[in-house]
Amino acid sequence: MFILLKKNNFLEKCKEEVRSDVMSYAIEVRDLTRKYGELVAVDHISFQVEEGELFGFLGPNGAGKTTTIKILTGIIKPTSGSAKIYGYDLLENPLKVKSIIGYTPEYPILYDTLTAREFLDFVAALHNVPRTHRAERVQEIIDLFGLTDEADQQLKSFSKGMKRKVTLAAAFIHRPKLVFLDEPTMGLDAKTARFIKDLLKEFVKLGKTVFMTTHVLEIAEKICEKVAIINRGKIIAIGTLNELRAKEKLYSLEDIFLKLTGSLEEKDLAKYL
Ligand SMILES: Nc1ncnc2c1ncn2[C@@H]1O[C@H](COP(=O)(O)OP(=O)(O)O)[C@@H](O)[C@H]1O
Ligand SMILES: [Mg+2]
Repeated sequence: MFILLKKNNFLEKCKEEVRSDVMSYAIEVRDLTRKYGELVAVDHISFQVEEGELFGFLGPNGAGKTTTIKILTGIIKPTSGSAKIYGYDLLENPLKVKSIIGYTPEYPILYDTLTAREFLDFVAALHNVPRTHRAERVQEIIDLFGLTDEADQQLKSFSKGMKRKVTLAAAFIHRPKLVFLDEPTMGLDAKTARFIKDLLKEFVKLGKTVFMTTHVLEIAEKICEKVAIINRGKIIAIGTLNELRAKEKLYSLEDIFLKLTGSLEEKDLAKYL
């Protein structure tokens, strides 16, 4: 996998797109709230993600991870609060923000009658990749993601894991500075999951930024430099793994997570049964 990443010049080319003159956080969230009727799905959260960080947004089911990512990618509007992406206010500069970010939703909608190549070309066009560069850019991504054999087949013939791979590839097509990935390894086989983890690590080495949600703590523990834990819409912990370990006096992220989300007692009980 590593060799594949090294050989592909896509990441090298990404480097050119990183501008270090912007002195701001990659993501700056202030007092963000989103209600669905009476339900407060995201409850006055504030946090920052630095440029070049691989940031894990963790939490149990229903905690508010997907709602947060949908706000930050402009899919839905917050009820109150604000967010800036590389210094651009999400509500004031939505198009600028969209040009900077890539996004893989938790449950993607794909156009089944398109081939993988056509779909990636379509996404590249949406992101204003010039027509003259598109075919080359799409081919690079196809090669990088190991989609060569299936590239010209219709998406309806793809397995769930393969579809996920295509939607992950689409997040990178316009060489974004920041990618938002909602449960990126869900439904992937071990080899592809490993590839994605390696890709994300290489991506941030270029100074680019990753914001990913996951409920798989092992993945966060392996690759995320910094994590936030959200529970019932509120951020209950944020920091590097070592900071959280020191604060909670526990080593494994699973133990920290279960303690903070109030499930450690059940786990301790289970040990003795
Ligand atoms: N479109 C919606 N309408 C009503 N409630 C929603 C909607 N989307 C999410 N919710 C609720 O908001 C809460 C947070 O959901 P979500 O952000 O999807 O959590 P997570 O991604 O952490 O599992 C949950 O209680 C969920 O049921
Ligand atoms: Mg979710």
